[in-house]
Amino acid sequence: MCGIFGYVGQKDAVPILLKGLSRLEYRGYDSAGIAVLDNSAHLIVRKKKGKVKELAASLNQHRNAPHGTIGLGHTRWATHGAPNDSNAHPHLDCSEKIAVIHNGIIENYVELKEALKAEGHQFRSNTDSEVLAHLVEKFYKKTGTVKEALKLAVAKARGSYAVGVIHEDEPGRITATRVDSPLVVGVGKHENFIASDVSAILEHTREAVAIENGEIVVLDGDSYQLSGANGRVVKRAPRHVQWNVEEAEKQGYAHFMLKEIFEQPGIIEGLIQKRLCKTGMRFEELKIKKSRLAQVKNVHIVACGTSYHAGLVGKYILETLTPLTVSVDNSSEFRYRDPKVDRSSLVILISQSGETADTLAALREAKKRGAVVLAIVNVLGSTIEREADGVIYTYAGPEIAVASTKAYTAQLAALYSLAFHLGLEVFPPKNPKRKAELFDLLAEFKKIPGAMSEFLAEYRIDRANWDANCAEYNRRYHKSLERYFKTAPAKRKRAPNAFFMYLGRNINYPSALEGALKLKEIAYISAEGYAAGEMKHGPIALIDENPWVVCIAVDSPTYEKMISNIEEIKARSGLITAIVTKGNEAVKKLGLYLYIEVPKTSELFSPLVIALPLQLIAYHVAKEFKEEIDQPRNLAKSVTVE
Ligand code: G6P
Repeated sequence: MCGIFGYVGQKDAVPILLKGLSRLEYRGYDSAGIAVLDNSAHLIVRKKKGKVKELAASLNQHRNAPHGTIGLGHTRWATHGAPNDSNAHPHLDCSEKIAVIHNGIIENYVELKEALKAEGHQFRSNTDSEVLAHLVEKFYKKTGTVKEALKLAVAKARGSYAVGVIHEDEPGRITATRVDSPLVVGVGKHENFIASDVSAILEHTREAVAIENGEIVVLDGDSYQLSGANGRVVKRAPRHVQWNVEEAEKQGYAHFMLKEIFEQPGIIEGLIQKRLCKTGMRFEELKIKKSRLAQVKNVHIVACGTSYHAGLVGKYILETLTPLTVSVDNSSEFRYRDPKVDRSSLVILISQSGETADTLAALREAKKRGAVVLAIVNVLGSTIEREADGVIYTYAGPEIAVASTKAYTAQLAALYSLAFHLGLEVFPPKNPKRKAELFDLLAEFKKIPGAMSEFLAEYRIDRANWDANCAEYNRRYHKSLERYFKTAPAKRKRAPNAFFMYLGRNINYPSALEGALKLKEIAYISAEGYAAGEMKHGPIALIDENPWVVCIAVDSPTYEKMISNIEEIKARSGLITAIVTKGNEAVKKLGLYLYIEVPKTSELFSPLVIALPLQLIAYHVAKEFKEEIDQPRNLAKSVTVE
């Protein structure tokens, strides 16, 4: 998905570019590169396969970092062309005077490349992005300005892009534009920035201008000029960003993921305090009128990845607290199935980044069909927020680890809050008993951050055991592997199966899906989440002593059914970890591999508390297997391609 960053000012550009890129690495990290106009206005490019720190190390080792006060940087998530040095950005034109960085996909690059080659342009990479460098070169010859050349270049391109350009003949100036890939300008004192996301500019400035689709921005050290697709000047003042740079640092934690796990109770507490009012829950930012919401007859939640799992939990939440029926879709599927969405529908898009291409496409489809569209987003000023009719912020602060944790529980908190708002204020119950029930639940919701803190405080004390249990799992698994390989090939049966199964019921079925996703993302071990009742319809065939089965068995109306499932797995030698309610001594008599106790809550709110052990299981297993944790292979935090 790639991160782009640019600096123009009075300071040495290279350290600023490298730091900015390292903040954007969540967007991709298979190669990194910089282009700097040095002090004699010569363009110098350094790029390399691997992470930003490898690029930095190589500049250090070869003492060949360019010195100049303007430059561009890029960190790549490969779409077209393998991750290697030559496919790394920035890309140059034939004259090597123009450098281009690009995030997105140029869908018609093959035909553009063929045409440019026929005109004599020489290509050095297999990327789609390089066509932009040659198009700018071609049009610069005609127009004489990078701005006009870039405008003509992107007019030829189909797809999504955020592009930054520097040119030896326009020293001291960065030109950039975007369509459907994010781009912000950071406005500093005698220095300006472009970046894919505000987290990259926070240590320099908290004043940011979001660039809209089709706009072109030209910046030097002292000013930025914006113009619309029609060429007219656009005046847009910077917005003050609430996030601060400390939030984007590890603050002593071994990994961002762990730090973000620990931030969760505080975030949820803050969200509740912000929204709680006498009549229920209110949102300053919602923008959609109560009278419009009152016309809603059905709700559709649309999201990807972890946000989709939050949406699945959201269905249970909304159907419990409001009279509405809810459907949930993966964004990538929503618009292909002729969804029955119209003026009577509320479509809720959930997205941490607010930039996910499929979710954005779903939003546009829902708007086209007349629905009222509400975005639940974490990144302020993101495209999804801007295009939706209304927004609920999750206020989780910058989430740096690629595997989402705090954004997920903050999304859940937003959904509970919305459900209370709808259930108490938009569709107030006629029956006073029901109203009192909802207020009782609201009172319990306020206590959930406390339960989350309590769990984490106990985890802190017990942390060494988590490591020990994962080491024991690793040992057992490797022992069975050894046994397998020691057996003569002709006598071997099935190879041992390192596999995690997560089982949950009702509102914790999506928790099981999310637990499995976390493990897959960072530990690279196959993991599946199932509705526990489905186990007998297939997954039970996988059970023997190897797979690690995580059973969510907290107090709930389905608890006893879960215990029956546990017995069935135990009867087949399964290695069971049960997540149970604190104080449940009965389950401990079952003699399972591991018990994780969570504070008692009603089932409705249990996903918030259960998320913590599920995240920590993935974290500790990944740690035991010495994986990267914050930057898992092949993934990117913000998926801006479909
Ligand atoms: C990527 C990330 C996931 C995230 C998903 C949706 O796959 O790696 O962590 O859940 O995108 O992203 P969004 O920003 O829309 O929530």
